[in-house]
Amino acid sequence: MRNFDETSITEAVLERVRHAPNSRHRIISEALVRHLHDFVREVEPSHDEWAQAISFLTRVGQKCTETRQEFILLSDTLGVSMLVDAINHRFPGHATQTTVLGPFHVASAPEFALGDDISGGMTGAPLLVEGKVGGIDGKPIAGAVVEFWHADADGFYDVQSETGLAKLAGRGVVRTDADGAFWFRTVIPAAYPIPDDGPVGDMLKAQARHPYRPAHVHFMISAPGCETLVTHLFLADSEYLDSDVVFGVKDALICGLQTQHAGLTARGNRIAMDMAALRYDFVLANANK
Ligand code: BEZ
Ligand code: FE
Repeated sequence: MRNFDETSITEAVLERVRHAPNSRHRIISEALVRHLHDFVREVEPSHDEWAQAISFLTRVGQKCTETRQEFILLSDTLGVSMLVDAINHRFPGHATQTTVLGPFHVASAPEFALGDDISGGMTGAPLLVEGKVGGIDGKPIAGAVVEFWHADADGFYDVQSETGLAKLAGRGVVRTDADGAFWFRTVIPAAYPIPDDGPVGDMLKAQARHPYRPAHVHFMISAPGCETLVTHLFLADSEYLDSDVVFGVKDALICGLQTQHAGLTARGNRIAMDMAALRYDFVLANANK
C-alpha cells in the first residue's frame, strides 16, 4: 500500500500493528495510534511545533537522573498519574483512599522503633504522628510495614539536598504493634513547589500554573493479604489544597493538626513536650479486591 494521505494513514498504521501476537501489545498499540493521530489532526502542528514537541520530550528524558524523574513529574502534572491510580484502585468504599507516589520515595529508608524521632534534624516545629492500620473487616493488623516520608518546614525533602542521598531524614519505616498501632515523632512539613527548573517547569509556566503541592506526609503501608496502600495525609490548614499541581488531594485524606500536651497522648503514648499531633487510622483493602 502506498500514497497515504490524512484520511488513509491512520487505518494503514492500525492494520500494520493489528497482528501483534501479544493481545495487550495490540490493544495498546492500536489505541496509541488512534489517539495520537486524532491529536495531530485536532492540533494541526506546524513542522516547527512538532520539532518543539520532540525537543520537549528529549529534554524531559535528559533531565532524568538517579534522584530526578522528570517523566513522573510530567505524568503527575498532566493528571495522568492520578488517573492511572483511580483506575487501579476501585476499592470498597471504606478502604483508605490512595494518591500519587511522587518521585521522592526511597526504597531503603531506615527502620525505626515506635515513638522514635525520625526527623533526622530537619527544620520544623515538632509533630507527633499516631495511627492505626486495620483491614476492611475492621480488625487491627499487627506487624504492618508503615513507610513514611515528608518535606521539612522549608519545603525540601532530604534527597533534594546538595549531598543527595548522603543523609536520609524525614523518612523511615516502623511496624505496627499487636493492636495495629504505630507512632513516631518528626517535624511539621510545609507546602512546596515540585522541581520546576526543567522542561516540566517550563510547561507549567506556559500554562500559567503554579508548581505547588499542599503540605503533606506520604505513607506506603503493606501487610500480607492486603493491597499495598500508597497515600498521603494532607494538613488541613495548608495552602493549595484546591490547586495541588498534581491533582492528588482527596477530602478523606485531609487531616487537622491537634494540640497534644506533654505526658500521655490521646493514644496512650508518652511525649516529653507539647507538640502538634496528626492522627489517622488507615484501612487496607484485601489483595485482588
Ligand atoms: C510528592 O509529593 O513528593 C510529589 C508528587 C508528585 C510530584 C512531585 C512531588
Ligand atoms: Fe511530597
